Amino acid sequence: MSDGAIELRDPAQARSDAYAQPLETLNPAQSSLFQADAIWPYFERLRREDPVHFTPDGDFAAHWSITKYNDIMTVDTNHDVFSSEGGITLPPSQKREEEMAAEGGGFGEESLFFKQDAGPQMFIAMDPPKHDVQRKAVSPAVSPHNLAIMEPLIRERCAAILDALPIGEPFDWVDKVSMELTAMTLATLFDMPQADRRKLTRWSDIVMAQPGHGVVDTWEQKRAEMFEYGSYFLGLWAQRKNGPPGGDLISMMAHAEATRDMDQFEYLGNVILLTIGGNDTTRNTISGSIYALNKHPDQYRKLRADPSLIPSMVSETIRWQTPLAHMKRVAKQDFELGGKTIRAGDVVAMWYVSGNRDDEVIENANDYVIDRPRVRHHLSFGFGIHRCVGNRLAELQLRVIWEEILKRFPDIQVLEEPRRTYSTFVKGYERMMVNIPTRN
Ligand code: HEM
Repeated sequence: MSDGAIELRDPAQARSDAYAQPLETLNPAQSSLFQADAIWPYFERLRREDPVHFTPDGDFAAHWSITKYNDIMTVDTNHDVFSSEGGITLPPSQKREEEMAAEGGGFGEESLFFKQDAGPQMFIAMDPPKHDVQRKAVSPAVSPHNLAIMEPLIRERCAAILDALPIGEPFDWVDKVSMELTAMTLATLFDMPQADRRKLTRWSDIVMAQPGHGVVDTWEQKRAEMFEYGSYFLGLWAQRKNGPPGGDLISMMAHAEATRDMDQFEYLGNVILLTIGGNDTTRNTISGSIYALNKHPDQYRKLRADPSLIPSMVSETIRWQTPLAHMKRVAKQDFELGGKTIRAGDVVAMWYVSGNRDDEVIENANDYVIDRPRVRHHLSFGFGIHRCVGNRLAELQLRVIWEEILKRFPDIQVLEEPRRTYSTFVKGYERMMVNIPTRN
């Protein structure tokens, strides 16, 4: 194993760990389990034995884990009961907050992005009516009409990225392909200079980074880079505000009635939302497709033999990968679910990553089957009023890059276990070494 790769937990060991613990203390919300790809038996056991499961303490605040497909749908489509206000990731526990404060970090401080002691101000973390008008203001950027205009540009970039790859020499697919393509697309959506595109990748990593786990070493470094990020986007706002209305996301926000008077915190909150929404998720699906097809060579063969399966493979990868593992809600009133009473004020985690493996709804859900029936029937984009705005853009990028890959490369080989992200939210890959033996 090469330097820095994370040791996969032996699947049998992960399983016996998950089943040996008392059910009451079983806690899937552990970044280390996600990084080690050891999460599966935890969720399998919860789906069978305690599908609506309470975790009183740990790294995150006390919360309910919702692990079955239909229960997740119930929560996600019921925004009158389950609120998104205040954030959509599990908040840290008090103990963890104290630890972070002792390390010189935490989330309570005033910054360019956050008001003192307030959650992020972004429309994914808002309820109606504010959510609805802000969402509507940016949606035209990813309308079918705009996507049709973007497709040739995305194809051209895919071709350039793939044509520059080394042949017969190991390289990191995450860096050279997944990050490049998604950063280029996002820079176009923001109408930023392409030369700055990799800043977006960096900032998107910085927002999610926990110091000491690969991306940044200290909280000071995180704060300094966040400051640079915020300043850059405040500059873009001023520029677009004073210019004519345009079709890019910043200009749309600066001119639409619902968003033009946003304060700095709301604007930068939405910038974070769009940076992460457009970056990490699609990036990790591109890497996930290479990994999944390598793990399932029969499926890779099927795809090569019939490239018309690409759109279906893309959806299957999005389900199988589940690039965002959970979304958080807070109950506004008492609610009965799976024989449990969720009380008003309780925090709830919808574990999409588990619902997508629910055998009662998806046949052989652990298998990766690129031509499975009803392949778009998955939870990865969520449901209800917050359902992913960018889902067609994500699928478009995946489809086009695979159309271009199959034209060029008979095989892309994953050389070793990838390095996975240390997170219970972003489910992805930091590094994936591959080799392309030959070109067509
Ligand atoms: C495979 C790629 C992607 C996945 C898996 C994904 C996943 C999600 C999920 C799970 C939600 C929340 C759904 C809910 O709470 O019910 C969401 C919302 C959102 N996504 Fe995506 N996303 C992807 C790509 C994108 C892209 C490319 C963009 C860029 C425009 C984007 C922008 C957004 C925005 C703005 C929201 C907030 C919508 C709202 O609150 O109304 N996403 N996404």
